[in-house]
Amino acid sequence: MEGVTNSVYREVVAELYPQWDYFACDFLRIPTTAPYPKKHLIKHFGKVHYDSDLRNKTIYQVLTSENAKTKETIIDLRDLGFKWIDLNLGCPSKTVVKNHGGSYLLKTPEVLNKILGEIREVYDGYFTVKIRVGFEDDSVFERNLKIFEKHGVNAITIHGRTREELYKGKANWDYLKQATEIVNIPIVGNGDIWTLNDVAACFSYTNNTSLMIARGALKRPWLATHYYQGIKENEEIRKEEIKKYLFKIYNVYSKYNYPKEKILRFMKGLIRYLFDDLTKAEVLKRTCLRSEKLENFLRIIETL
Ligand SMILES: Cc1cc2nc3c(=O)[nH]c(=O)nc-3n(C[C@H](O)[C@H](O)[C@H](O)COP(=O)(O)O)c2cc1C
Repeated sequence: MEGVTNSVYREVVAELYPQWDYFACDFLRIPTTAPYPKKHLIKHFGKVHYDSDLRNKTIYQVLTSENAKTKETIIDLRDLGFKWIDLNLGCPSKTVVKNHGGSYLLKTPEVLNKILGEIREVYDGYFTVKIRVGFEDDSVFERNLKIFEKHGVNAITIHGRTREELYKGKANWDYLKQATEIVNIPIVGNGDIWTLNDVAACFSYTNNTSLMIARGALKRPWLATHYYQGIKENEEIRKEEIKKYLFKIYNVYSKYNYPKEKILRFMKGLIRYLFDDLTKAEVLKRTCLRSEKLENFLRIIETL
């Protein structure tokens, strides 16, 4: 997740909640002028974690466009030993779309086909795509799935909305189910999976192989642990998890000498969904957002 899943954050979650199977780094925007030096590819991934066990648990996500240096970048990532590369075909951001990347590629099959061909020519590792069901509408859905199949894509993560829909309404899981009937590729379900009940419902409704969770994981970073340990969340458990999580963030970021202001800014970003469902969630959120010092912020958390 852009702005969140940097390597130190992944270390925090991996240590606290090792039940998550995989993480992904935020997407690397492949440049059109010249490929990034390898040093930059490692820095984007997180230098301190390049040599750690976490590397094999982390998907390297890239975002590209027709004239970008895709092939050169994928060769470098391959040579650096990254075993799982994911292509972002879902990003709805105006800037990304203006540059014909992310979800824009869903509506240009020739370009999509060309890019996948370039990647597959040089990379036979585990290669996945992350998509929305279309750009303006879903008319391209089936055609795009077939293009992925042709290029031996190893799994497809589907967010059940079009780009035009952004985050409106509820993600439509019908597409997750339909995809399993259209192609013979593992489908990873995504969109509006917030609770353990949603996890069970999505698996049983779609027949998907696995799930990818974004906002639900920001609201409940412990979701995978509770899933495997059969823990049923209530207000007290939720508060204890929040404390454990935010203090772990403080400790790990401090270990890497992050300045306090930076840690505070990051934590303020993280509480967007974290306090939801707590009694007085809004007041709590406002008080935390108003904290000018990390110490004040942590004091509020301590007394939850
Ligand atoms: C803060 C944030 C950052 C995101 N960054 C990325 C990203 O870097 N790559 C990507 O493929 N999707 C990204 N997404 C989209 C999610 O992966 C996901 O498709 C979408 O949020 C719907 O799933 P959810 O209901 O589980 O949040 C991001 C979403 C959020 C909320």
